[in-house]
Formats: sequence, structure tokens, C-alpha cells
Amino acid sequence: MARLVAVTGCCGFIGRVVTEALLKRGDYVYGVDALTYAADPTLVADWLSQYGPERFHFVCQDINALGRFPEVDAVINLAAETHVDNSLSDNTRFVATNINGVAHLLEMCRAMRHYEIPRFVQISTDEVYGSLGETGYFSETTPYDPRSPYSASKASSDHIVSAYHHTYGLPTLITNCSNNYGPYQFPEKLIPLIINNARNGKELPVYGDGKNIRDWLYVVDHCEAILSVLSSGKAGETYNIGGNSEKQNVEVVQTICDILDEQTGCLPGGQPRRTLIRFVKDRPGHDRRYAIDASKISRELGWQPAVRFEEGIRQTIKWYLENPAWISSVIDGSYREYYEKMYGNR
Ligand code: TYD
Repeated sequence: MARLVAVTGCCGFIGRVVTEALLKRGDYVYGVDALTYAADPTLVADWLSQYGPERFHFVCQDINALGRFPEVDAVINLAAETHVDNSLSDNTRFVATNINGVAHLLEMCRAMRHYEIPRFVQISTDEVYGSLGETGYFSETTPYDPRSPYSASKASSDHIVSAYHHTYGLPTLITNCSNNYGPYQFPEKLIPLIINNARNGKELPVYGDGKNIRDWLYVVDHCEAILSVLSSGKAGETYNIGGNSEKQNVEVVQTICDILDEQTGCLPGGQPRRTLIRFVKDRPGHDRRYAIDASKISRELGWQPAVRFEEGIRQTIKWYLENPAWISSVIDGSYREYYEKMYGNR
């Protein structure tokens, strides 16, 4: 049966894929987005014209300012400040959205006690578990040990979500995912930033020695995992979602360089793009390695990542090459200011 699902952060990089999947399969979406810098405002008009106001209702608001939900069957909370580097220069918005905003959404759900209280799916990160050495994996029972202001804000909200399950019986679920990548990701994150710079022959900033390891999850795989947690996850549980694709950062950057050289030719003078790599000052408190044990979601819900990194990165690069207008539209004056501030004297 079609359901009404509130998606907060519906115009963000992950929110758009989740919203589109729900609309495509016939659900109704109550979309909420404050349309801050990393959101794509053009989506709203697209969805309204494609699905009509019956199927997609949009509220342009900060989650802290929401009054109440209609009788939604579920809430998927994707509204968040997500970029670690931003949390290092100013954590205020991270606390406001990631902590206070989640507390507010939970109160809104609790206030719906005269109806069926909606399932609340909190989308979180593997960064709440801290940093790994060369071996081991994060599982759902790994103790939280967040180290950046960003991950501390996500850890706080995860704890509040669990507390609302234990205290008030709210049917909450938490997902902790590894690093997402794919089309439409804002070029503050490693992969789109490197694709955009490499395409334009600009320097490729790699923090520290470049040997930090991340596990890469294709955004469409992530979306499928979220939807299976939404429909079949057990209330009160946490599910780790990973891509089975651990890579050193420098390997990721080299792979992007090689694919671009192969697809578009080298830089003028036959210079390979790998020569653009610059090892720059490390991020303070930079976590060394993240790796996910996703066996619980595989065993209990039958989800597994379908897209291997080698394939996903090619699809992603292809998309950025075919969509220069999207990139230009998000790299406006404020992005240039951001880039100068973050990378100017590194
Ligand atoms: P990022 O995309 O910011 O995600 P997260 O910090 O949440 O893992 O960064 C991924 C990795 O790439 C991380 O180890 C930091 C590193 N990095 C660089 O080396 N250079 C860059 O310009 C950026 C943005 C990230």
C-alpha cells in the first residue's frame, strides 16, 4: 500500500535519490528542505510537475522551524550538516541542525500519539564510531567514540533517537553508513572536488600523507539500504551500511586522474593528471580509517551493495563530464570563497 513518507533534507545529495525512489514506486512524499548551500532547489519544480502536488508536497523550512507533521507513516531524516571541514571552522550550525533539529523532529513525532506514531529512520554516519587502526571493522555494537565536531553532533542525535525509543517507545531506526559518492554530490567532498579540479587541470589537494582509508558506498546502493530499513528494519535497532570498498584517499585520487586521462586525453603537453596531486596540510584530528561490517543488514534484511567502486567511480565521472552545467551552477561566488578559505594557504 502506498505510504506518506516525510523526507527531511529531500533536496540534498542522498535525499534526492531517496525521494525519487519513493515517488517512482508510488509513495507520497512530504518533502522538507531548508535549501541551504548544498541543496538543489530545481528538484522541487521537477517533482511537482512530474508527480503533482498530491504526490509531492514541499515545505521549505529548517527542521527546527517545522510546526507539525501531517499523518505521515514514516519520517526519514536526512537533514544535516555533513561536511567535517566546515564543522572545524564553525560548529554552530551542526549543533543546531544535527542535534536540536533531530530532538525537535522526535518531539513532533511524539506529539502524534493520537495517530499511529510514524517510524523514524535516522540517517547517521560511521564516523560516530571513531577511527580504526589497520585492522578491524565497525559493527553495530562498537562503542561510540566521535572525534570531530561533526561526528560528535551525529553521535549526540543518535543517542537522543535511541533514548526516545527506550523512553517513549517511538519506533525509531538508525542507519550508520560509510562515505557516499555518486552524481550530484556537492564539490566540497573528496570525490566531486577532485573530479572537478582534475577536469580543469587544477591542483588536487590530498590531506596529510593520503593514506587515510575510507569505505566508499554508491549513493543508489545506500538509498536501497535505507528503503529496506524503512520497510523491514526492526524498531529500536541500528543497521550499519557499507560499500565493501576500502581505499586509501590517494588511491581514489589516482584512479580519478587515470580515468579522466583515458576518457578525455591527458592535459596539454601530454601531462598526466596524477602530476596535479599536492599533499597539503592535514585536517586536524583526521580519522585514519573507517571500515564497516555490514553483515547485520545483509543477514537480516538481505541488502548488499550492488555497485563495485571500480564501476561506481566510472559512472560518477561520466555523469560529471556530461553535466558541466550542474557543476557550474553550484560553483558560484560563495563556493569560490569557500575554496579560497579552505585551500588558499594550505
Ligand atoms: P570527505 O569527502 O570530506 O569525507 P569524510 O571527511 O566525511 O570522510 O573526505 C574523505 C577523505 O578525503 C578524508 O579522509 C579527507 C580527505 N580529503 C582530502 O584529502 N582532500 C580534500 O580536499 C577533501 C575534501 C578530503
